[in-house]
Amino acid sequence: MSPPDSQNAGWSPDSWKTRPIEQQIVYPDRELLASVLSQLAKLPPLVTSWEVETLKRQLAEAGRGERFLLQGGDCCESFEDCRSDLIANKLKILLKISLVLTYGSRRRVIRVGRFAGQYAKPRSAATETRQGVTLPSFRGNLINDRQFTAEARAADAQLLLRGYERAALTLNFIRSLIDGGFADLRHPQRWDLGFVIHSPQSAEYREMIRAVNESVAFLEAMAGRRIGELDRVEFFTSHEGLHLDYEQAQTRQVPRRTGWYNLSTHMPWIGDRTRDPGGAHVEFFRGIANPIGLKVGPSCGPDQLLDLVQILNPEDEPGRLTVIHRFGNRTIGRHLPPLVEAVRRAGKTVVWCCDPMHGNTANTGCGLKTRDFGEILGELTQAFEIHYRMGSRLGGVHFELTGENVTECTGGARGLTEADLGRAYHSDVDPRLNYEQALEMALLIATQMGRRNGQAEP
Ligand code: PEP
Ligand code: CO
Repeated sequence: MSPPDSQNAGWSPDSWKTRPIEQQIVYPDRELLASVLSQLAKLPPLVTSWEVETLKRQLAEAGRGERFLLQGGDCCESFEDCRSDLIANKLKILLKISLVLTYGSRRRVIRVGRFAGQYAKPRSAATETRQGVTLPSFRGNLINDRQFTAEARAADAQLLLRGYERAALTLNFIRSLIDGGFADLRHPQRWDLGFVIHSPQSAEYREMIRAVNESVAFLEAMAGRRIGELDRVEFFTSHEGLHLDYEQAQTRQVPRRTGWYNLSTHMPWIGDRTRDPGGAHVEFFRGIANPIGLKVGPSCGPDQLLDLVQILNPEDEPGRLTVIHRFGNRTIGRHLPPLVEAVRRAGKTVVWCCDPMHGNTANTGCGLKTRDFGEILGELTQAFEIHYRMGSRLGGVHFELTGENVTECTGGARGLTEADLGRAYHSDVDPRLNYEQALEMALLIATQMGRRNGQAEP
């Protein structure tokens, strides 16, 4: 169901332009920008309104504890990485994590990739200085290029079209893999568990994978079909809706539905740096019919959260708003409870999702950004406990991860240290869990969820 039009009072796809904007992008060639945006507005949508509504329905179920949300992918997709092997590996790791979480939570898992459009990044600093030279910061391939030259760092409107095309190519390949039931969807039993021997929990991990495989085999035997054909494995897309001109160009009305859909992705989210209730991003997001994410960090208190919930979901539509909290292992215990309490008191419906990545970023001695496996797990563990204790429910998790064997986060069964990071550090922006760390994280969360399943639901 689309939100009633009363929600959209005074809204239009470009009403955000009347509000102050954070993270504004300045284009040297305004005429080119206008021409690119008019092309983008005519090009076909990347996703459809019925897929968007399906995801919203499923998120409403996550809010009721009937499903669990898994959102994950790169911090920042790059155009270069629009490659079949990398895309397939991303799907495989998300699928595997989802099977492990299904097993642990006894709930169907909604798979939402940070992919097919995660090309624009907010930055803490607008400029970067190297050896006395100051240039605009790298903002993601939708906006500029990472090379440190004035030409590469200038915002280029043509990149909006390149980004739209890369997103379409990515999505096209994902849809084909799913339709063709690609090998790992048909045989998720291949797990690549080499890392397990390095873990003290080795026996527990093996037992869980054995149980997951057995459940898959049982289901397949009962249904007489492969798991990839059962329940038609679904993947949805998401990205930060940072570049409002781009998002607006793909926002449209569709036949036989009311409301406006942002059809550049299923689930856009508002970043922690752009969630000013009076700002442009919140204004744009309040009028679109998609399910949306809202990132909240330590500077968001209960009053601001309630303002945002009211602006973004005045009709309290289930599934419409996912609050993605990202505080950090050290401070979640202080910041999360007042937010949960405020939403509960106001009688509002949100899906709570924990992003244990963005509050746990640290710099190494050599200036690399990293995150520690133990801190990430620590924040997640606390998130489950806090929601449970307060009679609320953690409805999902949000990771920066990759299906590759990178070395960007420390810790995990192989005990990666800062000294290992130089070996395969590829991220353009934030450090991601690698294949093994992501799978191990899933096994650990599933163990915790499994324990909870033994207890009464709040
Ligand atoms: C991100 O998700 O990559 C990001 C920048 O997050 P946040 O807005 O929570 O800082
Ligand atoms: Co990030």
